[in-house]
Amino acid sequence: MRLILLGPPGAGKGTQAKLITKKYNIPQVSTGDILRKAVADKTPLGIKAKSYMDAGGLVPDEVVIGIIENRLKESDCKSGYILDGFPRTTAQAEALSKNLKKMSAEIDHVIDIDVDYDELIKRLTGRRTCRKCGEGFHLSFNPPKKDGICDRCGGELYQRDDDKEETIYKRFKVYQEQSTQLKSYYSKNGRFHSIKGTGSIEDIFNKVVSVLEA
Ligand code: AP5
Repeated sequence: MRLILLGPPGAGKGTQAKLITKKYNIPQVSTGDILRKAVADKTPLGIKAKSYMDAGGLVPDEVVIGIIENRLKESDCKSGYILDGFPRTTAQAEALSKNLKKMSAEIDHVIDIDVDYDELIKRLTGRRTCRKCGEGFHLSFNPPKKDGICDRCGGELYQRDDDKEETIYKRFKVYQEQSTQLKSYYSKNGRFHSIKGTGSIEDIFNKVVSVLEA
């Protein structure tokens, strides 16, 4: 199963991707996570990406397209994957289609998670992520059992640099600029589904599963 999750910052793409990974045993491929690791490791890619990410903008297409091309060649992607945060522009979507064609593969489902801005702000300002295993939490909606500590692995929880209110707004604006064209690109082939992303994490996961198993 090859799946794309679309949606604005904070829509719950990462949260749902982790649940899909557990249920269907396919990897989550998140360009945001790959870029954040590169930033933390201070690699040339990370140094280049940091300024775009801190400003709430997009890292140039050619950089992320290259990242995804390499990642999809890895052995754990053979039986499928969840693309979380990629593609974000039509140029990225076109490059992905080209790449999949070369691999004689195609995307099975594109799921757009729709959430409005007021809810996104609440979600992102309260988000905390585990430094060690990447598990996501929310201070009010999905709090860890112990303050600042990951329930799963005991790692330290941190707040992302780009989860400040003014950067969230910029990320949302960038998403709005790109998303209409991107959704219309994927609406053409009948594999595009839009689901409402408000409600409990479990409710939304049930909607995702209904799409995948329809
Ligand atoms: P990226 O990491 O992809 O960030 P994003 O798209 O802005 O999405 P988020 O990770 O912020 O949100 P999410 O939808 O995964 O929500 P989550 O599940 O965590 O990208 C970061 C940056 O990297 C970009 O700005 C860009 O610079 C660069 N980049 C990445 N990909 C790129 C690309 N392809 N091209 C160019 N640049 C790229 O949930 C959020 C919070 O809400 C959590 O606390 C969670 O617990 C909570 N929550 C989730 N669901 C619910 C619910 N139903 N109810 C209540 N709370 C919920």
